[in-house]
Amino acid sequence: MLGKYVISGGKRLKGTVKINGSKNAALPILAATVLNGSVNVLENCPQISDTKTAVDILRHLGCLVNKENKTLIINSASMTKTEIPRELVKKMRSSIIFMGPMLARFKKVTLYYPGGCELGKRPIDLHLSAFKKMGAQIEEIGDKIICSCEKLNGCEVNLTFPSVGATQNIILAAVFADGETVIKNCAMEPEIADLCDFLGKHGAVIEGGGTSRIKITGVKKLTPSRHKIIPDRIEAGTYLIMAAVSGGKITLENVDFRHISSLLDILSEMGCEIQKNSHSITLEMSKQLLNIPSIKTLPYPGIPTDMQPQLTVLCAAAKGVCEFEETIFENRTAHIPELIKMGADIKQKSDREFIVRGRNSLKGAEVYARDLRGGAALITAALSASGTTIVNNSSHIERGYENIVENLLKIGADITLKI
Ligand code: UD1
Repeated sequence: MLGKYVISGGKRLKGTVKINGSKNAALPILAATVLNGSVNVLENCPQISDTKTAVDILRHLGCLVNKENKTLIINSASMTKTEIPRELVKKMRSSIIFMGPMLARFKKVTLYYPGGCELGKRPIDLHLSAFKKMGAQIEEIGDKIICSCEKLNGCEVNLTFPSVGATQNIILAAVFADGETVIKNCAMEPEIADLCDFLGKHGAVIEGGGTSRIKITGVKKLTPSRHKIIPDRIEAGTYLIMAAVSGGKITLENVDFRHISSLLDILSEMGCEIQKNSHSITLEMSKQLLNIPSIKTLPYPGIPTDMQPQLTVLCAAAKGVCEFEETIFENRTAHIPELIKMGADIKQKSDREFIVRGRNSLKGAEVYARDLRGGAALITAALSASGTTIVNNSSHIERGYENIVENLLKIGADITLKI
């Protein structure tokens, strides 16, 4: 928590940033490496604190993990344990994604409710009810969850909400289940398609990854495999907005523009010039940003909730008014009071709705990151603000952005991390 970024704003960002592998694709795939009981080679793994936590969990369970630059080699043959300790689960919400693969391979897993309520309630009822439908018994003692089964049976799961985590957990549990599992109204995020792609390379039989209906036909075993993690669309979107608010020009390499089309549409509508190539995007902003009337976060392919805080900053720097509605999480507004300290004009109508009135410039202040994307938004605001901003709690940002200081220095920002 203790690190802080000191940013002197108002510099025009100009240059090239290479986007890293996706955090939200890497984490479920790291959990999935327990399934094959053999070697997994994962290329393009982001070097961030969340992937380090996932590796700590794998090592705790008895896996051998080696690292060569951005490639992780995980051998899950030697796994011995089926319990993930409380302190590791509480470090990272997505440790819950170990449930499905552990249950599939060992028929037993013990872990804890993931900590914090940083964005709202974030229950796991959809995960647990699907496991029960597949034949698992679940015992809850305080915050401890003990999940076991004799075997898992394929079945039909109709999700009441297209939860990303529940979709991933059900796919992973179903890989070795008896018969077919069909998930209806499932999440369609690119990270789900990447998980299915990874599992398919191992010999899993999965149809429909990346669509709203996924069918998994259980198999008896998986083979070793090699996979390259897709680029991080949220990291890409964050740098695009940073360049836009600075009135700069940025080229992103190692990016897939199809994964951020809803965001690119907003940026173009607000006045940015965008060029898309097969693996790169260039954004140039040389005019006054103009607000669009409204932004509503939605499951993929809608506007990602993980871009909402950074988009708040974009709209605060634009001319005109934009009304926001956050439909995914009930309490994802911790960045707003901090942005108000920097002079932003934002009125909160409810936990999920707020109105941003754009102004020409924010001013430097001392602010506090309360969560990962909210923290990225504060850095974005600081880059466009006049004077110096201190963004406290760097550890939130380190969970999801590899080398953020080096990347920003390279494109002309004035930023230092003080520990
Ligand atoms: C994932 C992403 C996170 C992103 C989110 C939404 C990872 C590691 N995290 O989180 O960055 O912000 O998708 O795109 O990939 N819900 C239930 N019951 C459940 C599960 C979810 O009610 O059992 C609700 C949640 O409270 C929330 C909504 O569904 O309101 C979305 O959650 P979900 O899609 O599951 O998000 P995560 O998988 O936690």
